[in-house]
Amino acid sequence: MSLRFTFKPETEQQLTTFELPDEIGFCKYTVPIMAVAHYRDGIWQDAQITDFAPLQISPDCLGLHYGQVIFEGMKAFYDSADHCAVCFRWQQHWARLNESAKRLAMPEVPQPLFQQLLFTLVAKSQSYLPTGVGDALYLRPLMFASGNGLGFGKNDSFTLIIIAAPTAQYFNAPLNVYVEREYRRACEGGVGGAKMAGNYGATYLASQKAQQHGCQQTLWLDAKEGRYIEEFSAMNFFAVFDNEIVTPRLTGTILPGVTRDSVIEIAKKLDIQICERAVSIEELTEQIQSGNCQEVFACGTGATLIPVASLNDGSSVYELGEWKFTQKLKDALQTIQHGQGDKHFDSWITRIQ
Ligand code: COI
Repeated sequence: MSLRFTFKPETEQQLTTFELPDEIGFCKYTVPIMAVAHYRDGIWQDAQITDFAPLQISPDCLGLHYGQVIFEGMKAFYDSADHCAVCFRWQQHWARLNESAKRLAMPEVPQPLFQQLLFTLVAKSQSYLPTGVGDALYLRPLMFASGNGLGFGKNDSFTLIIIAAPTAQYFNAPLNVYVEREYRRACEGGVGGAKMAGNYGATYLASQKAQQHGCQQTLWLDAKEGRYIEEFSAMNFFAVFDNEIVTPRLTGTILPGVTRDSVIEIAKKLDIQICERAVSIEELTEQIQSGNCQEVFACGTGATLIPVASLNDGSSVYELGEWKFTQKLKDALQTIQHGQGDKHFDSWITRIQ
């Protein structure tokens, strides 16, 4: 495999002089370099760090037309003790990228290639790494079919890029959620478990509907019975029933969130009861009404953990106001992400000097 890296002198200069603005927002500013590699003739080649610049894409680019596009959302955080960046669970993101690639008949990205591109990009982007708790360098690997011609069939050219952006957390206030009963996000045997671009594009219409009801997120129900909770627009679902945390188990229709998995593992370490099982919308609303559901929260890489303030089910709105478990789990997660967590979680972080 050819792993050739080239760095442009003018790019180096830009990176050392950047000053982070006070309000960084979510990915408003991108680091002016990116990692790129191409898959052609059965091998990955031309891996390099380039300027952040428009890609040369032909109007008949197959990925644009037929949707073979997958991505990851991952983060590097500032470790104030070691004054360096730490990549959070990058191996899990790499593995999930390859699971998505398999589902969409795209080539696997070898771990050494992914690691070299990622680590080089993060090391070169250190001056863009925000230092605040919960702030991070958001890393977005994206792979798409880059061959040309509109023939629908086998694609053999792909491009992988990784871009980076300093970021604060996605949301800064508890969420109002709209229960979507008309549209469905994913079905058994479909692509709901893959992190593919189309899964996000397909939610915009429902998001507009949610916004019309004053909500920032959609809550998706299963395609078969329209009863069981799947996930939020772009985050996994958790609820606390009588001091036990519950989350839908992974059945192939739900994105296997890395943050979701982290929450489960942290809860176990903190001796908080946690159960992966089917949760129906009726159970959720009944538990809220009876006072037995103390909290609902959403989690994902961009948002980390964010509480749900209300659930709008068309005719009824259910209010929630206690976020004890959410805060405890979020604090524990952030401590680990910034490199200061319990030794038990050491394998989740990789320091980049
Ligand atoms: C993430 O949480 O990183 C995601 O990929 C979701 C995106 C819509 C911000």
